[in-house]
Amino acid sequence: MEKLTVQSEFEIYEGLQELPEDIQDLMSLAVETRKNAYAPYSNFKVGAAILLANKEVVVGNNQENASFPSGLCAERVAIYQAGAKFPEVRIKAIAITASSDKYVTSAPIPPCGACRQAIAEYEINQESPIPIYFMGAVGKVMKSNSLKGLLPLLFDKNNFI
Ligand code: THU
Repeated sequence: MEKLTVQSEFEIYEGLQELPEDIQDLMSLAVETRKNAYAPYSNFKVGAAILLANKEVVVGNNQENASFPSGLCAERVAIYQAGAKFPEVRIKAIAITASSDKYVTSAPIPPCGACRQAIAEYEINQESPIPIYFMGAVGKVMKSNSLKGLLPLLFDKNNFI
C-alpha cells in the first residue's frame, strides 16, 4: 500500500489594496457584477470576473430560478461566457466575491465544487494554471495559484483518453 499526500498552498492578503492593480480592478468588477446577481431565493450574491490574455474581461453573477436546480453559479456564468465569446483566448485570472444581507460573508468564500470542476476544464485545455482570487463581501482575499490547488485529483479527461 502506498500513501499519497496532497498539499495546497494559498496566499492570504489582508485586503484588496495588497493586490496588484490589475487584480484590484478585476475584483472591483466582480464586486460591481455581484450587485446584479439574481438571488431572491438564497439571498447570497456572487460575482465573478475573468481576465483574458487579450485584455478582455468577462463577468458573471449567480442566476437563480424558482426551480432551484435550474439556477447557475456566478463562476460558471462567467467562464461559459468566456468560452462562448473567446474560445481560443487564455484565461489569466479569476476574481470571485460573495455577499449577503442574511449571512456573514466577511471571510474569503471559495468557489463550489461544481464550479471548480468547470474551471478545471479550461485550465487543462489551456495547459497553464489559472490563478483564482476569492473574497467575501469585504476583508481578506485568498489566492490559489491554480485551479488544481482547489481541486486535487480532479476528474481530468487526460486520465482516460
Ligand atoms: N453560488 C455561486 O454563485 N458560486 C459558488 O461557488 C457557490 C454558490 C451561488 C449559487 C446560489 O445562487 C447561491 O450562491 C447560494 O448557494
